[in-house]
Amino acid sequence: MQTHKQLTIGLFGFGVVGEGLYKVLQQTPSLNATIKKVCIKNAKKTRNAPAALFTTDKNKLLLDPEINVIVEVIDDADAAFSIVTTAMQNEKSVVSASKKMIAEHFAELLIMQRATRQSFLYEAAAGASIPIIRNLEEYYDNDLLHSMRAIVNGSTNFILTKMFSENLDYGQALLLARQLGYAESDPTLDVEGFDAANKWTFLLTHGYGIITKTSGLVFTGIQNISIRDAAIAKEKGYEIKLVAQAKKLSDGKVAAFVLPQFVQHDDHLSFVKNEYNGVVIESGFSDKQFFYGKGAGSFPTASAILSDLSALRYDYKYEYKKLYHHTPHELSDDFYVRVYVSFDDFKHVPLEHFKYISELHKGSERKFAVGILSFKELKENNWWKEHHVSLIVLPDGILEESDINILEPTVLAEIQTMEL
Ligand code: HSE
Repeated sequence: MQTHKQLTIGLFGFGVVGEGLYKVLQQTPSLNATIKKVCIKNAKKTRNAPAALFTTDKNKLLLDPEINVIVEVIDDADAAFSIVTTAMQNEKSVVSASKKMIAEHFAELLIMQRATRQSFLYEAAAGASIPIIRNLEEYYDNDLLHSMRAIVNGSTNFILTKMFSENLDYGQALLLARQLGYAESDPTLDVEGFDAANKWTFLLTHGYGIITKTSGLVFTGIQNISIRDAAIAKEKGYEIKLVAQAKKLSDGKVAAFVLPQFVQHDDHLSFVKNEYNGVVIESGFSDKQFFYGKGAGSFPTASAILSDLSALRYDYKYEYKKLYHHTPHELSDDFYVRVYVSFDDFKHVPLEHFKYISELHKGSERKFAVGILSFKELKENNWWKEHHVSLIVLPDGILEESDINILEPTVLAEIQTMEL
């Protein structure tokens, strides 16, 4: 087995993360890692590094036999996939932060890792500074992971914090998230939940051995959350967070989605503000554990890449233990979600599809209902994210059939006969 003593790096991308890594490596001489070349798209931009370091020719990196590690931190998913696969075929280890690329090409990347036996590490791609992937892979190497709940998108958490604690408006908060280098170059990826869902796909693999495309997950972002929702959350003693969740159900299958959630003040996730991320794991004997750290930004993301580079020195590879060494779990559609839904007009919300409704407010402006929906309803229909309908999961919002049967009768009958 080859051990990389000296890491000679070819770096793709010199944006927020690439430049962060360049600076961090300068301050970490003990790692014995040097960047030999940086491939960039736009040669004309001025950059804070010697001009001789840069090239626009990817082959200067991919075909250089001296370069034994490719670090790829670009945001074009297709180009990133081509770089990563070529690098592995050319017998180079790869460190990547491209969550979209990893989510879109996960199955192919698994095959590529097995075929080339190269390390492909991506701790920076989810939770940035939080070492969640390696922990899921190594520490929770058993069948006892009851649930994972996480804030995995720094920009939306930053925007929610600024809007609801500091009264900034949405536009200002988003602008600030972009200026600080937290948001994607296409910020709809953050705001509409794609980025969090992309990250959740491979965290589900490392946690449960589940392989899913992002399109196979039920998700949305914070785009429809209104000031009225925030006021109601406050009234009820909640905060609103965009939460990625996974919970093992009684049949052994896993309920998973990424949706806004009302979070109680004693929930660890309510502690997660601004660009920070957090992951709460519940497992068999240890009960709850909470991982917390900066989830976006230059140095926090570079810190995870640095840790991957360090791991390459002892030839570390993900083993995908839950996938290859255990029986992988399956995703389930067979559960219910307790939700709050706010909307402008009754015609946009099929209240008759609710299993139960416990609260209905018919105010002249924003209306809302609190009740229970089957997860299949969310999976098969889009009404809950169209026409400014805002859906927010309640605390402990995942229910099974057995939980439903013990609920009190509700106002559903009244609603069914009501003229809407
Ligand atoms: N746009 C991402 C976020 C960057 O806000 O979390 C880190 O992956």
